[in-house]
Amino acid sequence: MTVLDIIEKKKNKQELTKEEIGYFIKGFTDGTIPDYQMSALLMAILLNGMTDRETFEMTDAMLHSGDIVDMSALGGTVVDKHSTGGIGDSTTLALAPILACCDVFVAKMSGRGLGFTGGTIDKLESIPGFDTALSEQEFFDVVKRVGCAVIGQTANLAPADKKIYALRDVTGTVNSIPLICASIMSKKLASGSDTILLDVKYGSGAFMPDPESALELATKMVNIGTLAGKKIGALITDMQQPLSDHVGNSLEIIGIIDVLHGKKNRLYYEIREVALRLLTLTGKYTLQSAERAFDEAIDSGRALDKFAEMVQAQHGDASYILHPEKFRLGTRDAVVAQRDGYVTQMVAADIGRAVTHLGGGRMTKSDSIDFSVGVIMHVAIGSKVNKGDVLCEVYHNGKGLSEAKKLICDAITIDNDKPAQHKIAYAYVSKDGVEMY
Ligand code: URA
Repeated sequence: MTVLDIIEKKKNKQELTKEEIGYFIKGFTDGTIPDYQMSALLMAILLNGMTDRETFEMTDAMLHSGDIVDMSALGGTVVDKHSTGGIGDSTTLALAPILACCDVFVAKMSGRGLGFTGGTIDKLESIPGFDTALSEQEFFDVVKRVGCAVIGQTANLAPADKKIYALRDVTGTVNSIPLICASIMSKKLASGSDTILLDVKYGSGAFMPDPESALELATKMVNIGTLAGKKIGALITDMQQPLSDHVGNSLEIIGIIDVLHGKKNRLYYEIREVALRLLTLTGKYTLQSAERAFDEAIDSGRALDKFAEMVQAQHGDASYILHPEKFRLGTRDAVVAQRDGYVTQMVAADIGRAVTHLGGGRMTKSDSIDFSVGVIMHVAIGSKVNKGDVLCEVYHNGKGLSEAKKLICDAITIDNDKPAQHKIAYAYVSKDGVEMY
């Protein structure tokens, strides 16, 4: 077997064996197979696809390229959720404390934002003192004591994915369902949880453009997780507009505090749906008991207190959670409607890009982030507006304001006819099949 034979085989639309895939992943991870040969294979996979068996073998090879976390010492049910990423998607920040109030452990390793998508770790670091780089021992101690903790991904979790993802990013090979599937599932399976809920997003602010391709990706990931012995399900959810009306780092923490106070907005309903699916997947809850547990966690104020407890345990200043007015925000400006009508469309990715222009996101991995900038949306798809109404507030520190306002203005379409209502979820996939919403 030579590297060139394997590339040729995929180029000719033939199925690769377990040994061929394992050889390639191992060789690329240890540096014996160079970037240009891996790039050629990735492009052949993007163009010619992979069977379910090949995708499973690729995931397995990437999973075994590094450490596999063992959570059994926690002595309870450990749950995880993974979103494929979007704009204003801060669900993890609320789910961790809510689920911890429901007697399951959440030991979450999250990523940073890149491009137009925000990252959970950056959002948490907008809380003064919050430490996202706890040692493994301290991470476990916090999870055991508090019930939840969120840290950045450790270096040796699926290192093959880290190297392959960096190459995909610069070779136009991100948008491949088998490659996305292997990338996400290798990390999920390496991070040691027994129950996993995937939130696969579609729309202008997501990797998957439409619900059908999101469903295809979700089905592949659920099949792989099930084969690996996990309790796993996937929700297909809408990312045609920002999920939270708060977009930006400190602003998204403020938006989450609103949800933990019981504010019923799109973000709240999506968080509730993810939590109910996850709790029922564990086998410890029926749908009814999960609903009761979720509502009790919010209504009693326990979930908000749990969030403050997690922040304190990770060395953050918990007074910001109880007094969010302490977050320093940039100077306020506004984008206003240019005509009367209904909001019929939003290019969610451009709202994310606007926040990046303001300094709230990264263009390159080494960029630093201004936590105090972002936008608060006053409208959603379907809102009726009059000329001059505020569409959103923009918080800035001078940088990129005019580009950001133009991007937002162009991202929001106002028309005469009221559009159809956008559902939060499109489908749910589990080992038992697909349930449509
Ligand atoms: N998220 C990942 O972790 N990997 C992908 O390939 C796409 C989204």
